[in-house]
Amino acid sequence: MLRVVVLVSGGGTNLQAIIDAVAAGTITNTEIVGVISNNPEVYALERAKKAGIPNLCISPKQYESRDAFNRALLNAVDGFQADLVVLAGFLVVIPEMMIERYRNRIINIHPSLIPSFCGTGFYGLKVHEAALEKGVKVVGATVHFVDEGTDTGAIILQKAVEVQQGDTPEVLQRRVMEQAEWMILPQAIDLIANGRVEVVDGKVVIN
Ligand code: GRF
Repeated sequence: MLRVVVLVSGGGTNLQAIIDAVAAGTITNTEIVGVISNNPEVYALERAKKAGIPNLCISPKQYESRDAFNRALLNAVDGFQADLVVLAGFLVVIPEMMIERYRNRIINIHPSLIPSFCGTGFYGLKVHEAALEKGVKVVGATVHFVDEGTDTGAIILQKAVEVQQGDTPEVLQRRVMEQAEWMILPQAIDLIANGRVEVVDGKVVIN
């Protein structure tokens, strides 16, 4: 049984997709053992409570230094005895010591087809604003392993979504969530839970 801890910072729609997929059996061999937010006010924590999942807030504001926050975050993840850490809209930089300890065991959902519209400053609506500004005809989402860079880890799954005439950033974001994020994040977790994902020469092989 894969023990999964989900890190959140916002509305938690990706967390909800994972919760629903476990309940529906489309994610197998998996238990969500904890949810951690960096913000006490976010609806994602409500979603965890409603699903009866242990949850807590660990905010940088609660600590006198970033190093103290980093240690508290890592201790909390260790405390859940996580096999896999899922960043579902998590907006805080993951400490290097955590990336080291959970090498190829932290995954992130990014709302673009990496390497487009990713890296520092590309998160949330900003990703979709940049895509519309560029006039691309296809966008999408990517699930990737987390390494020391920003959105640079080995790509696990991607799914493309068409841009439609007259799209606003909000409309496009919702379509990318509905048609890509909420599908490929649960799918990636299920593949990992069933031992079908390996990293070979820095690239993901799905068996
Ligand atoms: C969204 O912008 C999503 O594209 C990205 O994180 C943000 C919050 O998503 N992955 P969620 O509703 O909190 O899962």
